[in-house]
Formats: sequence, C-alpha cells, structure tokens
Amino acid sequence: MPRGTNPEPGTTLRLQVYRQLRAAIEQGSLPAGARLPPSRELVATLGVSRNTVLWALQRLQAEGYVVARVGDGSYVAPDLPRLRARPARRAALLPVLSQRGRQIADTALRWQPPATAAAPFRIGAPEVASFPFALWDRLARQIGAAERQALAQYLHPAGLADLRSAIAQWLWVSRGVRCEAAQVLVCSGSQQALDLVGRLLLDPGDEVMVEDPGYPGIRAALAGHGAVVRPVPVDDEGLVIADGAQRWPQARLLVATPTHQFPSGVRMSLKRRLAVLDWARSCQGWVVEDDYDGEFQYGPHRIPALTSLPAADRVLYVGTFSKTLHPGLRLGFIVLPQALVPAFAAARALADRHAPGEQQAVLARFIAEGHLLRHLNRMRELYPRRQRVLIDALAQASAGEVQLRPAEQGMHLLLEIAPGRNDHAVSQRAQQAGVLLAPLSRYTIESRRRGWLFGYAGYDDAALQRAAARVATVLRARTA
Ligand SMILES: Cc1ncc(COP(=O)(O)O)c(C=O)c1O
Repeated sequence: MPRGTNPEPGTTLRLQVYRQLRAAIEQGSLPAGARLPPSRELVATLGVSRNTVLWALQRLQAEGYVVARVGDGSYVAPDLPRLRARPARRAALLPVLSQRGRQIADTALRWQPPATAAAPFRIGAPEVASFPFALWDRLARQIGAAERQALAQYLHPAGLADLRSAIAQWLWVSRGVRCEAAQVLVCSGSQQALDLVGRLLLDPGDEVMVEDPGYPGIRAALAGHGAVVRPVPVDDEGLVIADGAQRWPQARLLVATPTHQFPSGVRMSLKRRLAVLDWARSCQGWVVEDDYDGEFQYGPHRIPALTSLPAADRVLYVGTFSKTLHPGLRLGFIVLPQALVPAFAAARALADRHAPGEQQAVLARFIAEGHLLRHLNRMRELYPRRQRVLIDALAQASAGEVQLRPAEQGMHLLLEIAPGRNDHAVSQRAQQAGVLLAPLSRYTIESRRRGWLFGYAGYDDAALQRAAARVATVLRARTA
C-alpha cells in the first residue's frame, strides 16, 4: 500500500492495514514466529495513524494470527502453518481430482451463455416467451400466510404431498402411467433423478447400458458414480436390446428414451418394448425410462410411456418439467417402487434436502387447476407449426437440396448424413455464422452415425428462417 494513500476507496484504512498484514502472514512473507515491525515504524512507513495500526494489530491478535509479548512487541503466531497456497492453474489442479472427479469435470453438460443459447437451433429449448409468468405469479400470491410459513420450514425430501399427488394424477392422464403419489419423488429436473439412480443402484465398476447415440447427461451421471457405460445401438425400432444383452451380459441397468429416442427421434416399437421388459425380468435388472419430451406428440394417437405396460414392474420412470414448462424451474421427478422411496428420499436429502417449497406449491396448483394442460396444448399447436416453418425455410434456402423429414413428435429434427463423415466441421462453421447446429457425433460412443440436430421449438418464425438461410449457405459451401 503506497504511503498515506487510500487505494481502495470505500474500505477503511484500518481494514486495509489489517488485510495487508494478514495476507503477508498467510502467504509466508511474514513467517510463523517472525517479529512484526514496531507499531511506530508501521505508522511511519504506511503513513497512517497509530490508532489505525493498533486496531489492525488487535484484530490480528484476536483472530490468532499475531501474539503480543508484553514489553517485546508483536510476533506472528509461532505454530501457524503456511496458510494459503499460490493460486493454482486449472491444469495443475486436475491431478488432485480422483479419476471419477476428472470424469465429472470433463462432462459434456456445459452451460451456454444466454447470448449463444438464444441462437437457433439449440435442442431441448422450449418456447419461454409464451410461458404464463403472470399466472404463475398470481398462483404464488394465492399462498396464504400460514401455508407460506409452513413452506419456509425444512420439507420432506421426496416433495410436497400436493405436488406428488398432482404429478401422479397427471401421469395417468398424460402418459398412461398408474402410480400412487407416495411413489413419486420430486427432483431437481430429470438430471438429479439420473444422478440418484447412479448413487443408489450402482457400485463402482457396475456395467450400465445406454443408447448409442444417446444423451450425454445420462452417461455423465452414471459414470460420475463409477459405473462403466456400455453402448447399445439404436435402429428404427429403438434400442436394440438383443444386441446389448448379448454383448454386455453383466449389465443390470439400462437407461432408454422409448417414446422419442434421443437424439435419433425414433419411437420404440411395442415388440422392442416387450423385449426390454423381458430383459429386465430375466436378469432382475432395472430399466430407467427417461421420458424427457414424451408429452410432445402431435399425431392423432399419443402413445403411452413404457412404464404404462403391465409388465413394467422393473421400470423407473423419469419425467421433467424442463420441456413442458421451462428448464430454469429445475423440477422433475422419478416414479419408484414404494420400497425404494425411502432410500431415494435419503439420497435427495443428502444432496440438497429438497426442492424449494414455494415453487413446488405453485406447480402443484398449476397442474391441479388445469394450467399445465392448457399451456401444453398451446405448445402442441405451436411446435408442429414451427417445425413446418423450419422444413420449408431450409428447403427454400437450399433450393430443395436440404430436405428435413417431418416428425410427429419432439422438439428437434435430425438431418442424417453418411456414417463416419465429419459433421463437426459444418457445426463449427455454422457457429461462426451465429447458428448452433449440434453434430450427431457429439452424442455417439461407438456409433458412426453422423448428421446435425435442429432444435426448433423455442424460436419464432423469423429466427428460424434467418438461421435456416445461414445453414443452407454453410452446407452449400461444404458440398461446393
Ligand atoms: C434426453 C434428455 N434427458 C434428460 C434431459 C435433462 O433435462 P432436465 O434435467 O432439465 O430435466 C434432457 C435435456 O435436454 C434430455 O434431452
């Protein structure tokens, strides 16, 4: 600190003197047992008053950094170890992490800054501009004083009773899943549900089967608990369970997206569904059904969840409000056999106790009063229209060269190219042109399937048309 000046306006001088001395002790430039300069010397060199220096020394003494010896001045406490390491670079810190820690640090679930996230064609992003925020706020205001006080306490880790029962009823109507409210465990999105599955049903080294291509968040959650992730191919009937069962006979857990395979968009056939349930029965394994966007089916016949089948007693159903409402809400759930609920509730309590009470209470009302269904119906009209806009815009901008195939469900479309081709280069060039075009290879383990994913749900017509024109230019440059 230069003499007699105040380099940190807004901070008192005595606090600055204290902080400087403390930093010198923590960093070892004033080592344990060293004698501090006499206070009058500090007064002269720092150009501050004696009271300022004495205040700083007394505070350091009170906190144990300094000891005063009567008639002999102040010393750095003799038994202080060196306190603060030099700031380490990320690369230097990584070896400190366990193998599992490094795997977690490298997970593909990266947060995108809002400016980038706002650009099409981000996948899984719902329309938030039409979200009924005012209605949500009104429902929040309806919570009375007594209920609010009750919600301000520690709550049950499995979720509010009202919300669990609203979800159970919703599942029956919307996805054909029959369950008791007591089987529903509220989670912070489906991601936490997958994390709890990894924590409670797997030991390090256990094999789990996942779809290839598939959702990286599933792989990361399970590998994060030491599981060995095994790829199973996907064909036009969904995950090829016969292939997985033969190749990975040790696996006892399977995670799949049967309603709308992520990211290929395939719907699992009934034959395949029954084969999956058969596999679970025969090896006493578990199937985790990730029904992340199962509500978005636009055809005349909405097919129910795998969990709705009679033989689905070894299926854990994972649902989320990230697509039906919005991902910032961080509310989802898992439906469990009753016997597993206490263990999952205990794990949830360990992780973060429970979901925020008021959000749960508002969501319970939102579902029970029919607002979820109304909002969903609006989105079920909007999304296919947007899908059409995207298909037409891309066809037009590419003079008919790029034809996306329409889909009767979901929030994204896939443009597949020949296996093994480089899809990354186009994605990079699209990004330079301000468009997010996820390459299919990002979602693969062994699979050589390649292509690009076009998320369309969260963008208005003009944004879709602009982005389609840019992608057409990038694709044209590739083939030129
Ligand atoms: C297939 C799939 N599963 C799960 C999730 C996770 O959703 P959340 O944790 O927000 O519920 C996503 C998100 O995009 C997804 O695409």
